[in-house]
Formats: sequence, structure tokens, C-alpha cells
Amino acid sequence: MIELKELSKQAISGQSRLTILHPLDLLIPAGQFVAILGPSGSGKSTLLGLMAGLDTPTTGDVILAGTSITRLGEDALAAFRSRTIGFIFQAFHLVPTATALENVQIPMEIVGRRDAKRRARDLLAAVGLSEREHHYPSQLSGGEQQRVAIARAFANEPSILLADEPTGNLDYTNGMRIFELLRQLNQEAGTTLVMVTHNEELARAADRAITLRDGRVVRDNPTLSIEPLPSG
Ligand SMILES: Nc1ncnc2c1ncn2[C@@H]1O[C@H](COP(=O)(O)OP(=O)(O)OP(=O)(O)O)[C@@H](O)[C@H]1O
Ligand SMILES: [Mg+2]
Repeated sequence: MIELKELSKQAISGQSRLTILHPLDLLIPAGQFVAILGPSGSGKSTLLGLMAGLDTPTTGDVILAGTSITRLGEDALAAFRSRTIGFIFQAFHLVPTATALENVQIPMEIVGRRDAKRRARDLLAAVGLSEREHHYPSQLSGGEQQRVAIARAFANEPSILLADEPTGNLDYTNGMRIFELLRQLNQEAGTTLVMVTHNEELARAADRAITLRDGRVVRDNPTLSIEPLPSG
């Protein structure tokens, strides 16, 4: 379960204070698949980064599976994150000096998994990259890097998977393949899945769609009933 309480984010730009995310309360039950929609700049990546503890809120609290991550120290947060959260970044963030296989292996080695290499191979196969195991990120296309990032996010079987436009850089076929993998993980392992997307068709497959605009939730409903936004 993901609980956000009065969560907000402001940034200082020059002399002024910019509100990126207005105070927000949100409850996402364990196992739910939530799509986050909204125009560019509406705060989607900021919200996801706060949920993952990658960014600190200006006010409020993030509670993941009963643990308030805003109160954890740096080391405890890092340990909690590697056990509990998988994160797929909008811009992959692969380790440039590690091969595709090593990138997937790293998070499992951090938590001391013995089958890290074998599992990394299986995960790369699942995203269709068996032939690319020994390539470095610079030798991979954008879509291939994204698929390595997805395999890495799955590595420790996270109970919460946060994905920032995971299919944004992929062609239709690879996009659907990744989307199916995410949905499968959500349905079979009961992983809570929060996915930012610009694709309304993909959002329809979610249990719930939340739309942001100018740092506020302007719509939050079961996806099957996507209605037009009120104008303005
Ligand atoms: N550290 C920062 N300092 C100042 N402004 C920031 C900072 N981080 C984000 N912003 C601003 O906050 C707003 C929300 O950014 P965010 O990246 O969350 O948008 P987004 O909805 O993910 O957009 P996109 O669809 O383009 O990825 C943007 O206007 C952005 O310029
Ligand atoms: Mg973004």
C-alpha cells in the first residue's frame, strides 16, 4: 500500500517559490495498478520521485507498506528501497561502465542474492535482450536501454513498482511487450504498479487513472470511465 499524506513539493527558482506539487492525499491499496496521466510539466515525475524516496517533499509524508520513508535516514532508506521498490526512470539511468547483464545483476548483488547472474539472464531474455547481455549502455538503442532498465527494476521482485513512461521510448511492438510484462507482474505477483503514461489506451488497462494538471489531481477514477476533463 502507498499512502501520501499532505504531500507537497516546492522549488526555489531565482527569487520566487514555485509550487510543483500542491498538498496531496492519496491512498493506493496493495496490488492496485494505477496510471498517472497529465500534460508535460504537470508534476508526474516529481510525484513518482517522491513516492520512491528519491526526492524529499517540502511537506507531508510518504508511507510505503506501513513504513514512513520520509523519516528514514539515508542508509535505511537505501536498504528499504532496494528491497521494496522497483523504479523505471523516464531517462533510464543505467550504469554506463556496466554491461546490460551487470546492470540487471547489481541490485540483486546489493541484497546478496546468490542466483543474481542466472536471474539477470532470465530477466534480459524476458525483455528480448539475450543477444545484448555484454553490450554497454552506449552500445544500445534508447529502447534497448529502456528494456534493460525494466529488467533491472524487476530484479528484486519489488512489492511496489514505479514506472515513469516505461514505454515512451519504444515502438508499438516493444511497448506492448513491456506493458504486458508490467501487467503480468502486477497480476501474478500482486505488485502495486504506478505507471506514468501519455497513452490513454494503456491507461485504460489500469485499475485506476489519476490525472494531474499544474501540480494538482484533477481527476481520479476507475479507468473504464475516463470522461473528458472539465474545461479550464
Ligand atoms: N528541481 C526543480 N526546480 C525547479 N523546477 C522544477 C524542478 N523539478 C521539476 N521542476 C518543474 O516542475 C514541473 C513538474 O515537473 P515534472 O518533471 O514532475 O513534470 P512531468 O509531469 O513529469 O512532465 P513530462 O511529461 O514532461 O515528463 C515542471 O514545470 C518542472 O520544470
Ligand atoms: Mg516526467
